Amino acid sequence: MLTLFRNAGIWTPEDTGAPARGPGQGRVSRWNHGCLLCRDGRIQAVGDEQAVMRRIHPGEIDQEIDCRGKCMVPGFVDSHTHLCFVAPREKEFQARLSGADYLQILKDGGGILSSVESVRSASEEELFARTRIRALSALRMGTTTMEIKSGYGLALEPEMKQLRVIARISRETPLTVVPTFLGAHAVPPEYKGRAEGYVDSIVTEMIPAVSRAGAARFCDVFCEEGVFSTDQSRTILEAARAAGMGIRLHADEMHDTGGAELAASLHASCADHLLAAGDSGIAAMAGAGVIGVLLPAAAYSMRRPFAPARTLIDRGLPVAIATDCNPGSSFTESMPFVFGLAVLQMRLSVPEALTAATLNAAYALGLGHEVGSLTPGKKADFLLLEGETPAILAFHAGVSPVAEVFAAGRSVAAKEMT
Ligand code: NIG
Ligand code: FE
Repeated sequence: MLTLFRNAGIWTPEDTGAPARGPGQGRVSRWNHGCLLCRDGRIQAVGDEQAVMRRIHPGEIDQEIDCRGKCMVPGFVDSHTHLCFVAPREKEFQARLSGADYLQILKDGGGILSSVESVRSASEEELFARTRIRALSALRMGTTTMEIKSGYGLALEPEMKQLRVIARISRETPLTVVPTFLGAHAVPPEYKGRAEGYVDSIVTEMIPAVSRAGAARFCDVFCEEGVFSTDQSRTILEAARAAGMGIRLHADEMHDTGGAELAASLHASCADHLLAAGDSGIAAMAGAGVIGVLLPAAAYSMRRPFAPARTLIDRGLPVAIATDCNPGSSFTESMPFVFGLAVLQMRLSVPEALTAATLNAAYALGLGHEVGSLTPGKKADFLLLEGETPAILAFHAGVSPVAEVFAAGRSVAAKEMT
């Protein structure tokens, strides 16, 4: 089945076979009168309409879709989410507005631990139903690939329950889903004061079981003062790597604990947050080719200064942006919102933000060959936007300017188009 999507203004990062960094992060291909040819869900050709049409026989085309001059970009790759939870912690949000501190709330047994309580007691069916609603909401706002972490079970069985729900989201929605095991999200109440014992159970019991079940592609750790130390994080991530998982970490979110250096020395796929990362950590990450995943909606919701995105790009780090969608520190599944924060608050250019939300995020998930740009051979995941350029994502604030979403060449969500 050959489908021609014609009459589009196309913007896409250029995939050179590696994440885009430095000036390359802002390099995009554009065709004002563009078209995309899709064969059986894969991109066959993309470029200037006349040039592409010269290379094919019109009789070969089974279906033609007029994009009516709309702007076409790759589907968003949301490379960091905690989507699998029961309910957002609204009371805690109000407490934070009145001055309560996020890490103190966790220390007092709330925060992540209150989400753990509700995930443990929810049925698998309920957890699936709630997660699915958020996944479809993200899809309508342009996310076609999404990483989803466990981390609200904190014991083998409830972690596996989350990973089964995440696998079902992958099977039963049009999203491409990447599951991540985050058993090291917090120390559960049964191990209070015995963090080492919990680390031991992650390494000797949970990682082997998750790996045997093939339930997670990555292992993540919340490396933070008062949560997991860099030494504990290293122990866990080394065990995960030995068990065949990719590794990544929450690094230097509130304090510079050496998370960025750890990511560099382990050659992690990415290190995420980095609000407090210091110069030496950033330099080490750049040298080791670690992707920096920035989560500006978390900084926004926590009223913290944004990560130093310009510094990261200038030092040659490939930068990705993601929602961090979770019930506490960043309750949004909207990539358009994150795109707007990246451009207006972190001062990325529009092409840099586009690369961050697509190509570099795909590389962070080990999917650079599959998604993240409009490149022949990749999955035909793309969006039609309401404006003339991707700048509309930052400009039309508080709504989604995503008019239509295509996954593997099929329309999976559409607004009424003007
Ligand atoms: O990335 N920082 C740790 N984990 C999440 C928050 C999860 C939660 O608050 O439920 C984050 O911000
Ligand atoms: Fe997170």
